[in-house]
Amino acid sequence: MQILVTGGAGFIGSNFVRTVLDAHKDVHVVNLDKLTYAGNLDSLVDVSADERYTFVRGDIADREGVDRLFTEQKIDGVINFAAESHVDRSILEPDVFVTTNVLGTQNLLSLAREHNVERFVQVSTDEVYGSLGPEGQFREDTPLAPNSPYSAAKASADLLCRAWFKTFNFPVIVTRCSNNYGPYQFPEKLIPLMVINALEDKPLPVYGDGKNVRDWLFAVDHCLAIDLIYREGKPGEVYNIGGDCERQNIDIVKQILTILDRPERLIQFVKDRPGHDRRYAMDTTKLKTELHWAPTVDFEEGLRRTVQWYLDNEDWWRKVMTGEYAEMYDRIYGSK
Ligand code: NAD
Ligand code: DAU
Repeated sequence: MQILVTGGAGFIGSNFVRTVLDAHKDVHVVNLDKLTYAGNLDSLVDVSADERYTFVRGDIADREGVDRLFTEQKIDGVINFAAESHVDRSILEPDVFVTTNVLGTQNLLSLAREHNVERFVQVSTDEVYGSLGPEGQFREDTPLAPNSPYSAAKASADLLCRAWFKTFNFPVIVTRCSNNYGPYQFPEKLIPLMVINALEDKPLPVYGDGKNVRDWLFAVDHCLAIDLIYREGKPGEVYNIGGDCERQNIDIVKQILTILDRPERLIQFVKDRPGHDRRYAMDTTKLKTELHWAPTVDFEEGLRRTVQWYLDNEDWWRKVMTGEYAEMYDRIYGSK
């Protein structure tokens, strides 16, 4: 079986490529990635020589390029991770979020259908549901109410997937996962950013009152869920994925400082993110009861492993914190 993994050089995509090659000896993976600022082939050095792995540099929104790929390679299934993924960037530069996350997904859906691909998994997010108050959880039938340009673009892609199933009977499945953490995450996201700033004795910028809640899942557990859904999920369905692990941001930041033995005076409360969703929580009953998935890594253990990974892999993160990173950091945090 040959699968096309898009965005395989990113955080979750690279974890997925490794997980799937480890789990299934009969699988070949073609990784199509544009290598934006977030794509990093250093995250895949350990699999790059595997004969079951092929890397193709390309853009999911490029019709000719994707058409050529489907013509040259027999692709049985597609798992679409490729996206612009950072909410703060989407507030500053929304255009590319629409180009990649919406038009790119539509392009992939169209060409996958034309080339008779048998299965398509769209990797989406809990952020499409919007924001919760202190009670309740998102279910698969919760109405979509995205609040950021990022989540609006992801929700648009989810609706295109729905349309491709309803109109064309194209076998698409949408997965919606909560916040991931773990090795290889780009240091613009909460956990790696706080780890690295703490290591460098820089302020840890906590948005608003720090009491926004996210539900955290170790990235490999997300990857195992997607692999299972790809194999056993029902076309046309949506599956929530989550860690049953709600935490306030401030508590995570303090936990990181404790692990690193750094002082809490590094915490700096800064101006809130515009449209900042207050709380996410996922009802994952469907995935657990229908496909018997459960997370394998608990948060305290996963966070310790993640912090240790950043301590052990300074070369990896120093290389990605280049000029573009510094410039974007100033744009995001300079006005806070
Ligand atoms: P990431 O930003 O780390 O990686 C995205 C990857 O996509 C990069 O390798 C990048 O080069 C590639 N890419 C971007 N635009 C592309 C294009 N036009 N064509 C081809 N490749 C392109 O993102 P991530 O955190 O690994 O997220 C992966 C997917 O999972 C995204 O679709 C995201 O919406 C979804 N998701 C992420 C989380 C999370 O917590 N990180 C949670 C739920 C869902
Ligand atoms: O919920 C799934 C989503 O999780 C994914 O779809 C997104 O791709 C992914 O980026 C992530 O979105 P968040 O906005 O939740 O992640 P982020 O790491 O940017 O922020 C997590 C929380 O921490 C959020 O409440 C904002 C806050 N935060 C973040 C940063 C970067 C801070 O307080 N300070 C910061 O510097």
